[in-house]
Amino acid sequence: MQKKRENWGSKIGLILAMAGNAIGLGNFWRFPYQAAKNGGGAFMVPYILALIVIGIPLMLVEWMMGRLGGKHGHGTIGYMIYIQARDKIKPRKALIIGSISGMLVIAVTLLVNSYYNHIIGWTLGYSILSITGGYADKSISTGQFFVNYIQNPAYVFTFWIVTLAFLAFAVTRGIQKGIEAWAKLMMPVLYIFGIIMIFKALTIGSPAKPDWSAIKGLNYLWEPRWSDLNFKATLAAAGQIFFTLSLGMGIIQNYASFLKKDDDIVNSALATVSLNEFAEVILGGSIAIPITYAFMGVKGLGAGVGLAFISLPNIFRVIGGGRIFGTLWFLLLFFAGFTSAIAMYNYLVTVLEEGVGIAKKTASILVFFGYIIVGLPVCLEPIITHTADLAYLTELDNWVGSYLLVIMGLIEIIVTGWLMKENPIDEMNEGSYWKAPKWIYTIMIRWITPLVIITILIGSTIDYVKDGYFRLIPGFVTKTPVLIPWVEGARIVLLIVFILGFIGTYLGIKKSYKQEIEQNRVIVKM
Ligand code: ALA
Repeated sequence: MQKKRENWGSKIGLILAMAGNAIGLGNFWRFPYQAAKNGGGAFMVPYILALIVIGIPLMLVEWMMGRLGGKHGHGTIGYMIYIQARDKIKPRKALIIGSISGMLVIAVTLLVNSYYNHIIGWTLGYSILSITGGYADKSISTGQFFVNYIQNPAYVFTFWIVTLAFLAFAVTRGIQKGIEAWAKLMMPVLYIFGIIMIFKALTIGSPAKPDWSAIKGLNYLWEPRWSDLNFKATLAAAGQIFFTLSLGMGIIQNYASFLKKDDDIVNSALATVSLNEFAEVILGGSIAIPITYAFMGVKGLGAGVGLAFISLPNIFRVIGGGRIFGTLWFLLLFFAGFTSAIAMYNYLVTVLEEGVGIAKKTASILVFFGYIIVGLPVCLEPIITHTADLAYLTELDNWVGSYLLVIMGLIEIIVTGWLMKENPIDEMNEGSYWKAPKWIYTIMIRWITPLVIITILIGSTIDYVKDGYFRLIPGFVTKTPVLIPWVEGARIVLLIVFILGFIGTYLGIKKSYKQEIEQNRVIVKM
């Protein structure tokens, strides 16, 4: 007999958990520098278009896929794609598409989190260093302090393992007592901290030069620089939409699989998108860049690590209440990251529960050690090579944090638009207070969204070829030979995860749907 699936305890808990799933480091440190780098206000044009054309339809599709999967007792992508695809193609072909999808999502949830957990660990470490004044000594630059930090095994290991242990603990407690309970605590606090930080940012004045102020920083972020708007910026905007909304990662479907049969989808999916966009555009856009600009002008606006861990600490050293604001900032990042990491962690636990039949607690422990294995190179690289380039992390991020998400999004939308027999809109609208109009399916899900995603995929592929990512030795490490083994190591890890992910998903689906795969015709099991 099938085990009863867990459910969300309350509507507000579900929405906060989903918002927590989407709101992550992507909102607070990826969005601001992507926008600043790619044309400021001009970046918002492709960003909003990508939100409408890709983000919202795919979010609805992922919620629908998840609830449908949950009705069949499934919480992972391989099975979900299988049961949708076999409507129009033979079960054996559906098995292959399901296995490829399962493989991609296992790679994403295992390997994105392999470095994401480290970054969350750094934010936890920096929260404590902020309150204790650990980086207050001005004789050492905050850049050098950061390098020393990531090369210090005591720091990186302690906070990484503590983060992983927290995650394991939360996931083991289950959907309601673990994930939902943490989201209910962390998400409101995150918004409160964000608003306090914005207030601080906007009242900071012009402390360094009359020409620099937070308002000028906001202007820099929002004033359209049309000459910077090109195809690359458009790709960056679409990539940001995938990452920030957690699309193509399998984790929205996993959370949605714990919905009840007639729980609202349309309303809840739109609420998730709105909460995420508020956190990204309003909170994410009004903290790091304006504060940094007020003190350091344009030159302070480095990429993610630079902005969050180098520029801002420099400012927390000198402003009144810097220790408090530093703590708030890093805790905000920690909460944002934690509530996304938990979703990736839970995905892998569900894979083991449903694919291999392992109990949640044991699955949680196995995933804990899995993350230790794949995450070790992230922290060993700076320690062993005495560099701070994070080549292993960068290589993984180029694939699992960007490229694979787009491929997975494309598979989902094609399977939903073209292979599902039942109209996905009917499935989506069941139990929904607001109904999604039919054209979301006939125009968006079938045509516009897949065509735009295909264009993005072709564009990204051309870019990756040009940037040398497909070469045996990718462009970004040719000048630092000491890092080449780390990049090659990342590729080997990815390959092994692909192979295991494919085989595991294949065998899992085959076992659950043995008869119909043997006979190669659908036998309705419900
Ligand atoms: N959506 C998550 C983030 O923005 C993964 O970080």
